[in-house]
Amino acid sequence: MKLKLLATLACATFVIPAIAADVTYRNDIKPLIKAQCGECHGDDAPTLAEFDLDKERYKKDKLGPRTSTYETLLILVGWPDTGALMRRLDDGSSNADKKPGNMYKNLGETDEQRAANLKIVKAWVGEEAWNLNRWAKRGDVPGITKEQLDKLQLKY
Ligand code: HEC
Repeated sequence: MKLKLLATLACATFVIPAIAADVTYRNDIKPLIKAQCGECHGDDAPTLAEFDLDKERYKKDKLGPRTSTYETLLILVGWPDTGALMRRLDDGSSNADKKPGNMYKNLGETDEQRAANLKIVKAWVGEEAWNLNRWAKRGDVPGITKEQLDKLQLKY
């Protein structure tokens, strides 16, 4: 009985990373981002560099930086906008003040949908790579480290 329980536990610990490892941009993230974010971050939205030149104008037009390709999304994870995707989509659990990011609401219509979609995005970024740090330290939040960056998954 004890052995059986141990075997079950052993299987469970192996199954979880296997699911996470299967999340890819092509199969999971592209359709999710298109459906939930495409209205304001689609092909007609400015690239991050363009957006940064004239933020106020784009914000007025309800446009954020483009996230419609793998590459445009990666720069909101790694560099130069380190952690932006995580800060905006976090449900508040990674935050000292427990406030969700301002794009979290766009992850779905219901709490359930938002939680499910966040889980997919987290698995894609890497469960252990999920943090809200920027490139440089800001206030109490430390800058990102090489060790943290090494944990990024981001499978195409
Ligand atoms: C109704 C329009 C709209 C939708 C839908 C939307 N966003 Fe945004 N998003 C914006 C606007 C406008 C900004 C710029 C203003 C701001 O920083 O809040 C922005 C900013 C961002 C930023 C910060 C970029 C930066 O460099 O500062 C990220 C990351 C982001 N959105 C991700 C997402 C994701 C992921 C989704 C889908 C789950 C999404 N957004 C859905 C309008 C939207």
